[in-house]
Amino acid sequence: MSVTKAIFPVAGLGTRFLPATKAQPKEMLPVVDKPLIQYAVEEAYAAGIREMIFVTGRHKRPIEDHFDMTFELELALDQAGKRDLLDVVRSVKPEDMECIYVRQSQALGLGHAVLCGKRLVGNNPFAVLLADDLMVGTPPVLKQMVEQYAEWQASILAVQEVPADHTRRYGIVAGKAVNERIVDITQMVEKPAPEAAPSRLGVAGRYILTPGVFREIESQPRGVGGEIQLTDGIASLLRREKVFAYRYEGKRYDCGSKEGFLEANVELALAHPTLGPGFRDFLRGLEL
Ligand code: G1P
Repeated sequence: MSVTKAIFPVAGLGTRFLPATKAQPKEMLPVVDKPLIQYAVEEAYAAGIREMIFVTGRHKRPIEDHFDMTFELELALDQAGKRDLLDVVRSVKPEDMECIYVRQSQALGLGHAVLCGKRLVGNNPFAVLLADDLMVGTPPVLKQMVEQYAEWQASILAVQEVPADHTRRYGIVAGKAVNERIVDITQMVEKPAPEAAPSRLGVAGRYILTPGVFREIESQPRGVGGEIQLTDGIASLLRREKVFAYRYEGKRYDCGSKEGFLEANVELALAHPTLGPGFRDFLRGLEL
């Protein structure tokens, strides 16, 4: 079975990014010229996914507007003959892409957000993308994972080595190495203290999951922070199914943090085809 659906949990409050996120969804913060959520959606699209399921909440309307048609803007650009900009605007939602919105009325955790997509996902494998993790890779990270899924036909979690003193920020997995990139997971813990962490392999915000995970999430008590954790559901799934960790090729920017967001902006601006050269000159001219 191939992966055709993705869940984007976008109901979070973005408290790590106040005051910017006081009246605006964190997923709409732009890196260079695109909002974070668009990077994640483009990554899913590049992986062959066409059904985008957004788990939204109050104050998240700008996300729906972003992926909707902007009639007045398109008309104005068309009348002004601004073909290039019209293409930019229209490419945000390709015609063969479907966007579906479900509400998570209470912020009960990432596991709970994923559960909100249960009915729409049905009995299919699906991806989960956390938009505040901006992933840059060639091929795109989720595409790499879809290829791994095709090979293993089991859940695949994107992982990276994290510093020992950062284990409290991640779901941490441990298991047996199958090859250079794949680990057969035997243990998974949400945000352990360094001394309790079973390894330093931290989960980045990209998952491909089998639908069996829904039943496991449903039977979990509240976990770390009093929330229904996706990690706990996956840890429970481990007892019934294989789950693999995949060391992705690429780079992750934690854009939920101000430092990661600034790094992403600088590096992506430098890599931008038209803005890059001028921005490089500007940075060189700074007296640092
Ligand atoms: C979530 C997950 C965590 C994962 C992380 C990746 O945490 O709960 O397991 O490692 O995303 O970004 P959050 O960053 O939402 O607190």
